[in-house]
Amino acid sequence: MKSLVVYSSRTGNTQKVAREIYDALPEPKDIFSAKDAPDPSDYDFLALGFWVDKGTANASSARYMETVKGKKIGLFGTLGAYPDSDHAKQCLKKARELVQGNEILGEFLCQGKVDPALIKMMETKMKDDPHHSMTPERRARLEEAAKHPDKKDLADARELFVELAQIAAGKVSA
Ligand SMILES: Cc1cc2nc3c(=O)[nH]c(=O)nc-3n(C[C@H](O)[C@H](O)[C@H](O)COP(=O)(O)O)c2cc1C
Repeated sequence: MKSLVVYSSRTGNTQKVAREIYDALPEPKDIFSAKDAPDPSDYDFLALGFWVDKGTANASSARYMETVKGKKIGLFGTLGAYPDSDHAKQCLKKARELVQGNEILGEFLCQGKVDPALIKMMETKMKDDPHHSMTPERRARLEEAAKHPDKKDLADARELFVELAQIAAGKVSA
């Protein structure tokens, strides 16, 4: 079984998770950013990663994800929102739609530090926009996001993808 990790990362959060997953997978394996990633047809198991951009998978990951068909896959992503929030569930739903026609063996989401430049914009230009203005709840969420991905997130991602690779290889049942 040959595995491929494909991800995008603007500020490094998703890359951290991607590298952890890559490290956990059995050989043979490859890792690429979505814009340089090879044809998925040469691989048996794909770990497909994205960062959440305006409620869905970022564009370059989304484009790659749509090219993958008939594979066993695991999805992973990072976002500013809490992973158990309705927003996160919606994002995951959209990601699933991008990979229709594949067998999704598992999914992983964790928070990721939000770009300070974006936070600054929320505090200034977006301060009158009800969807982005800086409320105490939003600030608390951004402060929590700033601690992620943390050691536990990385350990959880590792553990899940070790298991998914075993399922993909037919060593354990789903
Ligand atoms: C332009 C932009 C849009 C974003 N949109 C969302 C969003 O809709 N929902 C969310 O939960 N987080 C959003 N985020 C936060 C990122 O998804 C989060 O910080 C992620 O971990 C970034 O990953 P990266 O470091 O791999 O680029 C956004 C961040 C940026 C910069």
